[in-house]
Amino acid sequence: MFSKYYFVIVWFSISLQSYYVENKVISCEDWENEVGGSCKSQNSTFIKCFGDFNTQVKWHRRIELENVEILLICGYPRRKMNPSTLLTGFNRINLLQIEYGNLTEFQGNFPRMNNLETVNITWTNLSELKPSVFSNVVNLKYLDLRYNSLNLFERPLELSKTFQKMHLTGNPWNCTYNLSWLVNERDESNVADKDELLCTDSAYSGRHLITVIFYLQKIKYECEGHEELRNCSCTMHYIHKSDDGKSLIPIYSVNCSYRHFHNFPSYLPSNTTIFYASGNQISDVRTLRNNEHYTNVVDIYLDNNNVTSIDVLEAGYWLRHFRVFNLNGNQLTKLPVYALDNALENNNNAISLYLGNNPWICECKFTMRLREIVMKYSKIIMDSNDVSCNYVDENEGNQTRKFKVLQIDRGDVCTIHVVESRFQSLDILNIILSILILFVFVKLAYDYYHYKNYGRLPWIVTKLP
Ligand SMILES: *[C@@H]1O[C@H](CO)[C@@H](O)[C@H](O)[C@H]1NC(C)=O
Ligand SMILES: *[C@@H]1O[C@H](CO)[C@@H](O)[C@H](O)[C@H]1NC(C)=O
Ligand SMILES: *[C@@H]1O[C@H](CO)[C@@H](O)[C@H](O)[C@H]1NC(C)=O
Ligand SMILES: *[C@@H]1O[C@H](CO)[C@@H](O)[C@H](O)[C@H]1NC(C)=O
Ligand SMILES: *[C@@H]1O[C@H](CO)[C@@H](O)[C@H](O)[C@H]1NC(C)=O
Ligand SMILES: *[C@@H]1O[C@H](CO)[C@@H](O)[C@H](O)[C@H]1NC(C)=O
Ligand SMILES: *[C@@H]1O[C@H](CO)[C@@H](O)[C@H](O)[C@H]1NC(C)=O
Ligand SMILES: *[C@@H]1O[C@H](CO)[C@@H](O)[C@H](O)[C@H]1NC(C)=O
Ligand SMILES: *[C@@H]1O[C@H](CO)[C@@H](O)[C@H](O)[C@H]1NC(C)=O
Ligand SMILES: *[C@@H]1O[C@H](CO)[C@@H](O)[C@H](O)[C@H]1NC(C)=O
Ligand SMILES: *[C@@H]1O[C@H](CO)[C@@H](O)[C@H](O)[C@H]1NC(C)=O
Repeated sequence: MFSKYYFVIVWFSISLQSYYVENKVISCEDWENEVGGSCKSQNSTFIKCFGDFNTQVKWHRRIELENVEILLICGYPRRKMNPSTLLTGFNRINLLQIEYGNLTEFQGNFPRMNNLETVNITWTNLSELKPSVFSNVVNLKYLDLRYNSLNLFERPLELSKTFQKMHLTGNPWNCTYNLSWLVNERDESNVADKDELLCTDSAYSGRHLITVIFYLQKIKYECEGHEELRNCSCTMHYIHKSDDGKSLIPIYSVNCSYRHFHNFPSYLPSNTTIFYASGNQISDVRTLRNNEHYTNVVDIYLDNNNVTSIDVLEAGYWLRHFRVFNLNGNQLTKLPVYALDNALENNNNAISLYLGNNPWICECKFTMRLREIVMKYSKIIMDSNDVSCNYVDENEGNQTRKFKVLQIDRGDVCTIHVVESRFQSLDILNIILSILILFVFVKLAYDYYHYKNYGRLPWIVTKLP
C-alpha cells in the first residue's frame, strides 16, 4: 500500500511540470453531481473539493495539508474568498485551480507562497483583481484567468520577476477604460492570448481589444500632435465594420466646444464624423465648403457662435450630406431659403437642424418663406419653436419686437403692403362702378329723349320677346 503511494508520488513530481499541457484530469467535470463541502483525494498530493471550502475543516485533519501540491476547488458558492484563510496550511502547493461557482472577488492578497507557480481561475464570476493580489506569490509563473467576468485592470498586476505568461480570453473587457498596458509593445504584460481578447462594452462590442487600443492611441496622438487641436478632446466612439466586412473603420469625434475658437481648425483627423464647436466665436463657415477634412464630418455643433451667414454653403456638397447641423444661438439674419429647401430635399441623412435663437429679420417675403421651410421640415428642425424674427418698429422709437416664425401671420409682417394694395384695388373698383352707373343713367336719359321726340324704342327693347 505504502509503496504504491510512494511510486505515485515520485511519478507525480516528475510529470508535474507538464500537467497543464496534457492533463485533462485536473478539472471539475461533473462537479454539480458531487456533494457540496466534500473533498476527494485523488492521490496524496492532489485534492479536489466541491462547494464551500470552509466547511471542510473536519476533513482537512484527516489528510496532510503539508503534502498537497494540487488544490482544485469546484463550484465555490460564495462571492468573496479570502486567500489567506483558504491557503492556511497548504505550504507546498504548486497549482491552485478554481473553477465554476460564484467567486467574484478576493478579500486581501494571496499570502506568501514559495511553491505556488500556477494559479488557474476559470468559469467563475471573478470581476476585479487588485494589482497587488499576487504580489507575494514570489514564484508565480502562469496565470490562467480565462472565462471569468473580468472587465478591468486599472493598473498592471504586480507579478514575480520570473512570471512567464497569462491567459485572459473570454472576459467581458470594457475597452472604454484605458487597458493599453495589456497589449503594450514591450510585452511586459505577458498576455499570451492578447490577440483574442474581445471588448464587450457598448461602444466597441465584439471588436478586438488590440484593435480598439491601437485606434484609441492613434486618435490621441493625432490630436496631441496638432497645435490647433491640442486643447480639444478627441475620442473614438465606435468602430464600424466596412460594407465588405473586411476592414474596420474607427469613427472619431472631436470636441472643441468652449475653447475660444475664432475659426474652424484647419485640420481634423481622418474618420472624424462628429465635430463639436459650441460656445466659440466662429463666424465664418466657409471651411465646411473648402476644407476636405470636413467633407465627411456629418454632425456639426456650432451653437452659440457668431455665424452671420451660411450663404457660402449654398449648392455645396456639405449641405446635402449633413446629419446634424446646430446653428442655434448665432447671428443669422437671413438664409438662402430656396437653396436650403433644395439641399434638404436631396439630403437623406439629415436628422436634425437647429435654427433657433438667431436674429432672423421680419420681412414679408423672407419670413413667409422661412415659415414655410420650418413647417415643411418640422421633423428635422428640432427647435422650430425658438425660431423667431426681429421686427424693428420705426413708429415706436426703433423698438425691436420678436415674432415666433411659426405663429406669424402674413398680416404681421406684410401689413403695409397688403393694406396699400387693398386700398388701391377697392378704389379702382369704386371708380369703375361709378362710371358704369353714370353710363346707365346717361343711356336712360338718351333713350327717353329719343322715345319722347321720335318714338323710337331702344334697340334692346325691339329684341325682347
Ligand atoms: C495525482 O493525480 C493527478 C491527477 O490525476 C495526476 O496528474 C498526478 O500525477 C497524480 N500524482 C501522483 C503522485 O500520483
Ligand atoms: C486551467 O483550467 C482550464 C479549465 O479546466 C484548462 O482548460 C486550462 O488548460 C488550465 N490552464 C492551465 C494553465 O492549467
Ligand atoms: C451561486 O449563488 C446562487 C444564488 O445565491 C446559488 O443559488 C447558487 O447555488 C450558487 N452557486 C454555487 C455553485 O453554489
Ligand atoms: C455569476 O455569473 C452568472 C453568469 O454570468 C450569473 O448568472 C450569476 O448570477 C452570477 N452570480 C453572482 C453571485 O454574481
Ligand atoms: C465601461 O466603462 C465606462 C466608463 O467608465 C462605463 O461608463 C460603462 O458603463 C462601462 N460599460 C460596461 C459594460 O461595463
Ligand atoms: C493609456 O495609459 C497609458 C499609460 O498608462 C498612456 O501612455 C496612454 O497614452 C493612455 N492611452 C490613452 C488612449 O489614453
Ligand atoms: C489652449 O489653451 C490655452 C489655455 O487656455 C491657451 O493659452 C492656448 O492659446 C490654447 N491653444 C490654442 C491652440 O487654442
Ligand atoms: C481611418 O480609417 C481607415 C480605415 O478605413 C484607416 O486605415 C485609417 O488609419 C483611419 N485613420 C485614422 C486617423 O485612424
Ligand atoms: C465637449 O467639451 C465641453 C468642454 O469640456 C464639455 O462641456 C462637453 O460636455 C463636451 N461635449 C461632449 C459631447 O462630450
Ligand atoms: C461674438 O458675439 C459676441 C456676442 O454676441 C460678441 O460679444 C463678440 O464680440 C463676437 N465676437 C466676434 C469675434 O465677432
Ligand atoms: C431708427 O433707425 C433709423 C435707421 O437705423 C434711424 O435713421 C432713425 O433715426 C432711428 N429712429 C429712432 C427714433 O431712433
